[in-house]
Amino acid sequence: MPNAKRDPFASIDRLRPLITEEEIRNRTRELGAKISADYKGSDLLLVSVLKGGFVFLADLVRTIDIPLELDFMRVRSYGARSESSGVVEITADLTGPVEGKHVLFVEDIVDTGLTMTYLMRNIKTRHPADVRLCALLYKPERKLVDVPIDYLGFTIPNQFVVGYGLDYAEKHRNLPYIATMDDEPPG
Ligand code: PRP
Repeated sequence: MPNAKRDPFASIDRLRPLITEEEIRNRTRELGAKISADYKGSDLLLVSVLKGGFVFLADLVRTIDIPLELDFMRVRSYGARSESSGVVEITADLTGPVEGKHVLFVEDIVDTGLTMTYLMRNIKTRHPADVRLCALLYKPERKLVDVPIDYLGFTIPNQFVVGYGLDYAEKHRNLPYIATMDDEPPG
């Protein structure tokens, strides 16, 4: 029997809503309308970075009213998150070429910026028409490298957040809103 204090499910009362479902829905609709207008008549390919990006992607695509294609990538970062080396391994790559396409990355969060810097550089070598980024969340206090975010949902403080695709020890991705997570109580 695991120690209840260490079980992430037992910690649900440590979650405090930061961005509500309604706020996410409204902002996503605005981003979708802007993306639809900006890419009208273009060959648009949305690329989601798994796992965290899957919820935002699913909601965002349904607010975009122009034809588009979807693909997915999965990455693994080396080193502790706090002192990330910036070395990122692509563990699942796109299923097709991006040459001539307008690539729009869809991310749940830009934290240090290292993951997106690596991925954007990598995709640019494959000769897309252009590469841009749509991110739901941005934590400027954690920034190590500048990443231009073309479509941004929310800027958030330097707090650990979960929900809406983001996890703590792989849990809480299913929470329908963004919550901060308090430190574990002592004892
Ligand atoms: C998160 C997020 C981004 C990355 C951002 O993924 O989804 O891909 O971290 O961090 P950075 O700006 O510091 O590079 P994570 O590694 O937690 O994996 P997951 O999406 O599978 O949860």
